[in-house]
Amino acid sequence: MKVDVLLGLQWGDEGKGKIVDVLTPEYDIVARFQGGPNAGHTIEFDGKKFILHTIPSGIFNKNTLNIIGNGVIVDPYILIKEIENLKDSNIDVFANLLISKKTHLIVPTHRLLDATYETAKGESKIGSTLKGIGPAYTDKISRNGLRVGDIKNINFFDNLKNLKKKHFRIINLHEFNHKDYLIDGLPYEEYEEKWLQALETIKQIEQIDSEYFINQSIQSGKSILAEGAQGTLLDIDFGSYPFVTSSNTITAGVCSGLGIAPNKIGKVFGIFKAYCTRVGSGPFPTELKDNYGEILRISGNEFGSTTGRPRRCGWLNIPALKYSIMLNGIDRMMMMKADVLSPFDEIKICTKYNYKNREIDYIPYENSPDDITPVYTSLEGWNTEIDKLTSISEAPPELIDYIKFIEKQVDIPIKIVSVGPDRKQTLMR
Ligand code: GDP
Ligand code: IMO
Ligand code: MG
Repeated sequence: MKVDVLLGLQWGDEGKGKIVDVLTPEYDIVARFQGGPNAGHTIEFDGKKFILHTIPSGIFNKNTLNIIGNGVIVDPYILIKEIENLKDSNIDVFANLLISKKTHLIVPTHRLLDATYETAKGESKIGSTLKGIGPAYTDKISRNGLRVGDIKNINFFDNLKNLKKKHFRIINLHEFNHKDYLIDGLPYEEYEEKWLQALETIKQIEQIDSEYFINQSIQSGKSILAEGAQGTLLDIDFGSYPFVTSSNTITAGVCSGLGIAPNKIGKVFGIFKAYCTRVGSGPFPTELKDNYGEILRISGNEFGSTTGRPRRCGWLNIPALKYSIMLNGIDRMMMMKADVLSPFDEIKICTKYNYKNREIDYIPYENSPDDITPVYTSLEGWNTEIDKLTSISEAPPELIDYIKFIEKQVDIPIKIVSVGPDRKQTLMR
């Protein structure tokens, strides 16, 4: 068997959590390979709603093992909160969750550093989720990080103390007033205490050499799904730098984030919203700053799962979709939130950009709103409620036309159409 991959083709929040949960019964293992608690993956079923930040979205199926891979960064405080939340719904996380010894830790001062850097950037801030992602990956790359497998070492707390000291030197250099800054609503010292308690609890999660575990699972015929976080357009190398996250969110990230060779990658599922959203700063060519954007935000409940921030909304962007398909090697696609477009009589799709007085369908290096303007095609809206559909055969013809138009543009089949947040609101094609 090979490792299938599901990842976002836009700026995150495409609905990855929902579809991983839908596909989970087909897999023995679901594994996260990058990102950290900047992710917020929502799963809804039986009238219940869960938001996962670190735990893979396969956790609701008793028969599926979930792995936090080496490429992920984990904040014990946030992870424990997730575990407790699931425990309240009778889900025994410890029975079905494994973590790589090589997973790096987000320590409390990474959270302060994130806030320090964002404050220093002022107007040009990234709009980070402030979960310590950039600073924790920085320490990993600069070889200063601490890993889950280190927690039991006798010198762990000395190393933690040294790292904290280093971080405070940077924080003080920036004159960041950390005393007035709250981390998840808590002053630093209180947060640190809770973080240290959480560190004890995460010792209960079975630690594995995940690269061996996953490769042995592949060999013994187990089916594995790699669950992406963020989206392709937030990739550290290929996103709109510097307005990106700090990991490789694309298929290539699965190899380094789980320890598998490229020839072990199976099918790659690309997931996108029927329109676009972005939370945080950075270029967004099809953004609607008018009433249409507001309708999308309200109709789609477009507020961040991790931070609650309103998401910026706009029309679907084909050049960006093509770029993401190219980078990831997408075999099939899933189109999410089609129901959100129901209020519109007319729906626009950006098929090209105007760039230096000519039309292009790629993303140029200079892609600020001053450099490129979207060229739109208008399609007729279906203008009717579709969230109660149970089969794609009941779909209005305008929705089918919309799907076929996209398929023709990007030359990849759309195999799932989602018409609501619930597990059941999923139409197979
Ligand atoms: P993820 O980060 O990619 O897992 O996506 P998020 O969970 O952050 O954001 C997707 C949001 O859309 C969540 O609130 C989902 O419950 C919701 N959602 C997913 N699919 C659909 C859909 O087809 N229609 C509607 N209306 N909401 C959906
Ligand atoms: P999921 O997995 C949407 C965005 C932030 C910010 C930029 C950098 O739920 O799709 P970071 O916290 O990494 O320093 O933020 O990336 N961002 C996301 N946007 N969905 C996410 O994850 C995101 N994770 C980070 O808003 O613009
Ligand atoms: Mg999300």
